[in-house]
Amino acid sequence: MAISKASIERVNAAIDITGLVGEYVTLKKKGVNYEACCPFHDEKTPSFKVNPVKGIYKCFGCGKGGDGISFVMELESLSYVEAIRFLAKKYQIALEESKESLAEDQARQSEKEALQIVVAYAQEFFKHNLHNTEEGKSIGLSYLKERGLRADIIEQFGLGYALSDWDALLKSATEKQYSSDNMEKAGLLVRNEESGKVYDRFRGRVTFPIYNISGKTIGFGARMLGSDKNQPKYINSPESPLYDKSQTLYGLFQGKQAIRAADLCYLTEGYMDVISMHQAGIQNAVASSGTSLTDGQIKLIGRFTRNITLLYDGDKPGIKASLRGIDLIVASGLNVRAVVLPDGNDPDSYAKNFGSDALELYLKNNSQDFITFKAGIFAEEAALDPIKKAEGIDSIVETISLVPDVIRRSVFVKEAARLFQVPESALTEAVNLRVFGRLRKPVFRPDSPEIEALKQETAEPLPGTENTVLYDLEGEIIRLLLLHGHKTLEEKFLVAHYILEQLSDIELKSKIFKNLITEYMERLDFGESMGPEYFYHHPQEHIKQVIIDLCEPLQEKIIFHTHRDFEDFSEWETENLHKSLFFNIMHLKKQHVLEEIKSLNRDLETAADEDEELRILASILEKKKTEAILTKELGDVINHL
Ligand code: UTP
Ligand code: MN
Repeated sequence: MAISKASIERVNAAIDITGLVGEYVTLKKKGVNYEACCPFHDEKTPSFKVNPVKGIYKCFGCGKGGDGISFVMELESLSYVEAIRFLAKKYQIALEESKESLAEDQARQSEKEALQIVVAYAQEFFKHNLHNTEEGKSIGLSYLKERGLRADIIEQFGLGYALSDWDALLKSATEKQYSSDNMEKAGLLVRNEESGKVYDRFRGRVTFPIYNISGKTIGFGARMLGSDKNQPKYINSPESPLYDKSQTLYGLFQGKQAIRAADLCYLTEGYMDVISMHQAGIQNAVASSGTSLTDGQIKLIGRFTRNITLLYDGDKPGIKASLRGIDLIVASGLNVRAVVLPDGNDPDSYAKNFGSDALELYLKNNSQDFITFKAGIFAEEAALDPIKKAEGIDSIVETISLVPDVIRRSVFVKEAARLFQVPESALTEAVNLRVFGRLRKPVFRPDSPEIEALKQETAEPLPGTENTVLYDLEGEIIRLLLLHGHKTLEEKFLVAHYILEQLSDIELKSKIFKNLITEYMERLDFGESMGPEYFYHHPQEHIKQVIIDLCEPLQEKIIFHTHRDFEDFSEWETENLHKSLFFNIMHLKKQHVLEEIKSLNRDLETAADEDEELRILASILEKKKTEAILTKELGDVINHL
């Protein structure tokens, strides 16, 4: 359907770019512009700018830019025409367009928009049932009232009721010419495999519409009434082109302003938790409905606040299972705390038992930073069992190592050392080993088959080992060689000589790096020193690619342990060159020794006789000694980094 040019101009004129963008991210004024963390890519320092005068935005991190229309196209995943419609509705502008029948109209619109239409109808239908049908009132509404839900909350959360007939929704919707195909695609209907017939997915249940961030219904959760052990308590919409569970949070639409204002988001376990919290006056609450927490959901929260508090019902088994959520949040660079409600309470029962104010107070006073929280969980077991204590420490070390900022990591290490009563230096070393193990992975262009093939090739000689670690470490040495090879260390010797000398007793596992070193050495003998540029124009395409990926500060490249930008990191590295070199070489050597030990262990299994076994065992012992020395050296460097 064509929209007139005049209408588009009117929509364009109505767009208030800061208001529009501000609904999705928190904008801060900076001179004439506004700034925020980019909603299109993951970042921690704002490089996304909005110019209100020109009505445009631009991210200097990922390069995305445009006007208000492009912004909603991108963020709401809409086509151009859909974006115009979306904005027209928002700014209450009537679009001039030809009128067509509902059925024709639906056929033209994109699938997503078509699904949105049937879901919106279902939502209206369910709401209508709850308030205006005998069954809805006597069963659904009375249930909600019995649970103490206020009318304004029922309204705000759009609660409804699905009638108990097999086809109440189907009938009503088809009468009004809504497409049953689309209803099925949106998960409102279920098809019986044998008879091929479709019927309503939600029957005889209270319905909880799931809104997207701009308040459109995209799916439902539906709770049974009473407690039948043979039925699931909730039936949820399946995923659909409209409803991506990993990118959706229940309650975010209703809570986003409060989350921003409080600079905190409570992450609860379910629908009723969010609703009860609202009713208790705590509006900054969301839940991940029907899935365990995802990165996408954390990013979604991250647009409004960097502080998340996980809220657990008071039952232990569930808590341990969801500790993964803490790691995910920590790794996103957000701050996470956790609070457990006492004695099996959930927010609903707690507020009922003790009152709204008590709930708020409880959450404030009992939320713990993640270390104290994790320590508490392992504490009981740990007191009795040293192995359990080690497990607890290990788990905390892992979490701390995911914190992207080195200063914050050291604060957490101090805290953990105190709580577990272990020396801080030991914890620091354990944490750093993990951090550096993941450090500075080269970023590969995903569309480059040569690179993939290369990695495979590197992986071949030692099946079943952690070869990407080796590859990364080897790449790191090559990077240091190319970027710093021409410099001198302690005003005495060439960095290139230092590196090559150190590498002389190990054989690089990656063929490409091995060849590169050979080429480098040959030329060095002729007095040439080569920076990365030399290899940027190398006749072999894959060498070019690998070296560019290693040495160029690509935008996606996150300097993991410092979390600084590339410039700062380069400066730091140059100032600490000797340490960096030493550290990386020791690390690589250690990794090689570990591989050798693994390989010896494999040999041990196939040893022909006792003599051979003994010989292998002796070698293993020898290697382990080397490993211990390297570990100690590494620890010493780390402590002085
Ligand atoms: P709960 O059992 O705690 O439900 O499950 P609730 O929301 O607190 O509801 P009430 O207070 O008992 O009435 C927590 C969440 O787990 C999901 C839902 O998202 C629910 O809100 N869930 C639970 C399901 O998806 N299906 C189920 O059968 C049960
Ligand atoms: Mn619950």
